[in-house]
Amino acid sequence: MNMRKILLSTQKFVENALSGEGSGHDWWHIYRVWNTAKHLAKKEGGDLLVIELSSLLHDIADRKFNAGSVKRGTEKVHAFLHSIKVEEKIIEQVCEIVQFSSFASSFLPDGTRRKMSTLEGKIVQDADRLDAIGAIGIARAFAYGGHKGTEIYNPTIKPTLPTSKKQYTQGETHTINHFYEKLLLLKDLMNTKTAQKIAINRHKYMEQFLKEFINEWDGIL
Ligand code: ADP
Ligand code: NI
Repeated sequence: MNMRKILLSTQKFVENALSGEGSGHDWWHIYRVWNTAKHLAKKEGGDLLVIELSSLLHDIADRKFNAGSVKRGTEKVHAFLHSIKVEEKIIEQVCEIVQFSSFASSFLPDGTRRKMSTLEGKIVQDADRLDAIGAIGIARAFAYGGHKGTEIYNPTIKPTLPTSKKQYTQGETHTINHFYEKLLLLKDLMNTKTAQKIAINRHKYMEQFLKEFINEWDGIL
């Protein structure tokens, strides 16, 4: 199969698997990450097939869809790419990227975060993280909170900086805390120069939003 056909089959596979998903991992999230990754690749380089396949497939391996197992998700990605006869060398690279692209699975046992080792991985991770900040990031955070049934804000529950995967995935929180626990940290975690630049505006936009939110909450009219 040529590159165009491989990407088309992959797009169909992912659309089918994720359409209508309500926790912020719907097809349109994938679509935006895919576009952003292509934009980053234009500026930063990297193997385009690996970058496009990994951005399309990055959430298929997410633990949320695989009974808590990233490994099982990665096997699913492997089996799919094998079925459309993608070269084994490319499959290995894609699987490595999708396995570690999520924020939650990037924690090492000592609480520090794993760095993506390849340029392709760095680009896909940046594209995914860019979609978690800015106006879209705000919308996704509240959509996720609604999906989970958490409060939009509760001033009695203060944010805690996550230091482990367990703490990040199990902590009781509300959506405003999520900004302090994750979203406002992403700007400084971008791997590439191009993503760092894009992140600056999106970050400012979230800060403005939080300021306005707290003002309204506090009855500053
Ligand atoms: P990752 O795939 O990097 O682990 P998640 O799957 O946890 O990220 O997050 C998917 C989307 O849902 C992101 O936009 C993220 O900010 C949002 N989200 C995740 N956890 C929460 C939370 N506790 N409260 C609000 N939004 C959240
Ligand atoms: Ni994603």
